[in-house]
Amino acid sequence: MEETFAVKLEKKRYLPDPRCRAAARVPDYPRAYREFMRDPEGFWDRVARELVWFKPWDQVREWNYPYAKWFVNGQLNITASCLDRHAAGDRKDKPAIIWRGEGGEEERVFTYDGLRREVMRFANGLKLLGVGKGDRVCIYMPLVPEQVVAMLACARIGAVHSVVFGGFGPDALATRINDAAAKVLITADVAYRRGKTVPLREIALEALARTPCVERVVVLRREHPKVDLDPDREVDYADLMAAAAPSSPAEAMDAEDPLFILYTSGSTGAPKGIVHTCGGYAVGAYYTTKCVFDIKESDVYWCTADPGWITGHSYVVYGPLAVGTTVVIVEGAPDHPDPGACWRQVRDLGVTVFYTAPTAIRMFMRYGDRWPAKYDLSTLRVLGSVGEPLNPEAFEWYYHRIGGGRCPIVDTWWQTETGMHMATTMIGEAMKPGFVGKAVPGAVVDVVDRTGRPVPPGTGGFLVVREPWPAMLRGVHGNDERYRAYWNTIPGCYTAGDLAVKDEDGYIMVLGRADDLIVVAGHNIGTAEVESALVSHDAVAEAAVIGKPDPLKGNAIKAFVTLRAGVIPDDGLSGELARHVKKSLGPVAVPAEIEYVDRLPKTRSGKIMRRVLRARELGMDPGDISTLEE
Ligand code: WTA
Repeated sequence: MEETFAVKLEKKRYLPDPRCRAAARVPDYPRAYREFMRDPEGFWDRVARELVWFKPWDQVREWNYPYAKWFVNGQLNITASCLDRHAAGDRKDKPAIIWRGEGGEEERVFTYDGLRREVMRFANGLKLLGVGKGDRVCIYMPLVPEQVVAMLACARIGAVHSVVFGGFGPDALATRINDAAAKVLITADVAYRRGKTVPLREIALEALARTPCVERVVVLRREHPKVDLDPDREVDYADLMAAAAPSSPAEAMDAEDPLFILYTSGSTGAPKGIVHTCGGYAVGAYYTTKCVFDIKESDVYWCTADPGWITGHSYVVYGPLAVGTTVVIVEGAPDHPDPGACWRQVRDLGVTVFYTAPTAIRMFMRYGDRWPAKYDLSTLRVLGSVGEPLNPEAFEWYYHRIGGGRCPIVDTWWQTETGMHMATTMIGEAMKPGFVGKAVPGAVVDVVDRTGRPVPPGTGGFLVVREPWPAMLRGVHGNDERYRAYWNTIPGCYTAGDLAVKDEDGYIMVLGRADDLIVVAGHNIGTAEVESALVSHDAVAEAAVIGKPDPLKGNAIKAFVTLRAGVIPDDGLSGELARHVKKSLGPVAVPAEIEYVDRLPKTRSGKIMRRVLRARELGMDPGDISTLEE
């Protein structure tokens, strides 16, 4: 995209209950932000002091563009902040993890003390397998407590984990194992999803035929009778635990030592191994969990993400445990065995803070209001969203049907690379449907043109970060060039790859990925905008739009639409949808073609893969589709 472009902005806003604001961890956002801007290092210095350090830092930040170091020469172990300090204090018997199997029949609870003991034992188990500081360990597991234990056990001994989401297939797994040169793989025989089993170990074995770096495999066996293991290479999770000593001191890590690698799919080429480090990441994940979600001692917190994604790393595992809250984890699909499953868990467990993705919200919308209406959701206090633009219709539904018009919604914009929330509407600030909001205290986020100049309100541009932040990626594993590309695309800025626009109040609306832009007759059209307009029609559940080469206009818009339950597409519907988009965005954004489909291709993390639709439409190769769901 060469030019900036005009965007029509919604004006609607919701004012929060003043009581929410008064009681919030950050009761005065503008003031908190000003304080941060006055002294960024002082701000982060104060936050970092809330965690456990073995050795204090000499310097908060060292910025040698584009390379940053945070908490220079400081030493810590993130598990001391996530486990030991809680287990040694008032939170010893507080539930750290409440896990439920799909459908909610099975439940396991780990207190902070119990989780600490489990982690220490498994850390010793890893040592028995020859894993030490700096070694890479791949974790390919279902959403079970052992997945979290495995991550924390790696962190305990300074091994670098690379979690691969359990929905990935053998090729994707092998690529990631080899890129990280993982020495040990931790997996399970099966995952449970929609009442069926997913044969994780079999998939892993297929991958392992191509991964000479892997020496040993730990298998959590869940099924009965137990599957046979290969004694030369595989070891049972429980046997390893039984053989391991109970106590394991937390290894002292340099703040800049790597904590984990997590792969993210670039728009082109092989997946990128995003490297996060021990110190800055811990501080960023901790601060944002505490302040953006406004976590209080009595909260029951549920983030529906899998730790196979960054959202799971920062907001299922490290952030919430560092804060010392109770984390709910539920395996399986949120709409199984029925579309009320998710809301039943909220009621049964008394969930107070709920964090999910727009794709899930739209799915629940599609099922209809009667499902959430069956359950008492009055414990909910804060709602969060992440991963894609939360279109105004989904915002309204979430706000009224789930939050009862009472709960603030924090729509959080961030990325695998940023490690932590970067922009949102802090609790207490006015919420504007469609807008994420402003930069969180601690981050400097802006919308700029190609030269790095801020664009005026109402003009779309590139979403960038201007200053380094503690949880920022420190590199792309084995590929410095790809790391530098984040910082040398737009002068002086970290380029996120998203398009966005600000309104007069400085609120940011994320329009979608820069590569999802369609140029129609010389006009830049954001896919998200057209999709949002389509979804605002009563008949539409979800929409994805792509550009199709057009001899006249350069590109024409084609829309793929799924309809709400009970809606049958008749001859008139396409015309009606076209008129609806025209009314909302103008004639230039009207789809030339609308196709009704049962479902849209999505990544396992719920992002619509427009590239797959486009390739299918144009008879091209879709490229790397390892992240495609099912
Ligand atoms: C998109 C997920 C709009 C965006 C944490 C970003 C969002 C990409 C939002 C990163 C949001 C994330 N509103 N878009 N609140 N949050 N995105 O690495 O395009 O899986 O660049 O990290 O998701 O995806 P990732």
